Amino acid sequence: MGMKCALYPGSFDPVTKGHIDVIDRALELFNEIIVLIAENESKIPLFSSKERVEFVQQSLRKDAPVRVLILEGLLADFAKKNQINVVIRGLRAVSDFEFEFQMALMNRHLYPKLETVFLTPKEDYTYVSSRLVKEVARLGGNISKFVPPIVAMKLKEIYPCH
Ligand code: PNS
Repeated sequence: MGMKCALYPGSFDPVTKGHIDVIDRALELFNEIIVLIAENESKIPLFSSKERVEFVQQSLRKDAPVRVLILEGLLADFAKKNQINVVIRGLRAVSDFEFEFQMALMNRHLYPKLETVFLTPKEDYTYVSSRLVKEVARLGGNISKFVPPIVAMKLKEIYPCH
């Protein structure tokens, strides 16, 4: 069998242990993962794309076959151009499903060979999201269990008084 590569797109603002868990699971199924730091139309990011790339890179094992890139434009166009036909997305709960289903079908409309593979993160992370992590950190809660150390450190720098 040839080398099989999969794309893992997302906002990753910031990356959580749930995302890292999904990457680890995807690496059991694919030879290489390309993490794509993308913009979500409906979210204003806290961290720049460059920072988000750095956080993912620093949260991975040094020898992991994972590349982290910034996505400009459409995911489907990137996939087509690079001839990659698998997209990985994490699915935590039924509430994620509607948006994920729409995206999977839209992506396949744009590039018919593109399949979306949903992976479920470890139970410990099913209630963890970048949005909640930021909110809890901003209001002084402890988020160190849910994010890689580099992210915990950066969030403490931004919200120092706690
Ligand atoms: O982590 P998120 O915010 O749920 O990820 C959503 C994301 C970034 C994967 C999605 O918004 C996306 O694919 N953006 C790239 C531009 C694109 O292709 N948009 C059309 C998606 S059907």
